[in-house]
Amino acid sequence: MTTAIKKHRDISWDFVRADTKTFTHCFHNYPAMMIPQIAEKLIEEFGKNASLLFDPYCGTGTSLVEANIKGINAVGTDLNPLARLIAKAKTTILDFKLLNDYLSRFEQLDFSLLFGIDPSTIQYNRFPNIDYWFDKKIQEKLAIIKNFIEKIENDSIKNFFLVAFSETVRESS
Ligand SMILES: C[S@@+](CC[C@H](N)C(=O)[O-])C[C@H]1O[C@@H](n2cnc3c(N)ncnc32)[C@H](O)[C@@H]1O
Repeated sequence: MTTAIKKHRDISWDFVRADTKTFTHCFHNYPAMMIPQIAEKLIEEFGKNASLLFDPYCGTGTSLVEANIKGINAVGTDLNPLARLIAKAKTTILDFKLLNDYLSRFEQLDFSLLFGIDPSTIQYNRFPNIDYWFDKKIQEKLAIIKNFIEKIENDSIKNFFLVAFSETVRESS
């Protein structure tokens, strides 16, 4: 005897055309990221009157950002330090004036990257196989950017730049 299995399709969980890169969700790619619309719907369905969300495997913090958007405090943990850095950057409110100030300084740095900088002034971070992953010119430019970021005194703005730097390193390797 066979039992007929009925399939039920709930299209309310179908976000095929949704913009998944709104707010800070556009920061940095990461494997198996949750679609923000799923976190949003779960919070709406199960988090009514919640004052705190805890995500023990928060990855890059999709659920934390969605909780914050709804005015809910959020705490996340993750084994991966890169995930924690991205989650932190995505959920930290920045001083926009200070950020703009650093972005302007970075644009000036961008100019010197294009027109050359004295190589003897560059401090390199060496690690095994660096010459396999990056050609010398790229190593030079990345080192200049890293030196710039290391001098940022405000931790939140430094994290913001580090997250952008991490994507840049990945794309230029
Ligand atoms: C599927 S990802 C989560 C992605 C996240 N929802 C997002 O949107 O970015 C699962 C995460 O669990 C983390 N993880 C795995 N085992 C863990 C453990 N024992 N403790 C904490 N985090 C863990 C991994 O580092 C990974 O970031």
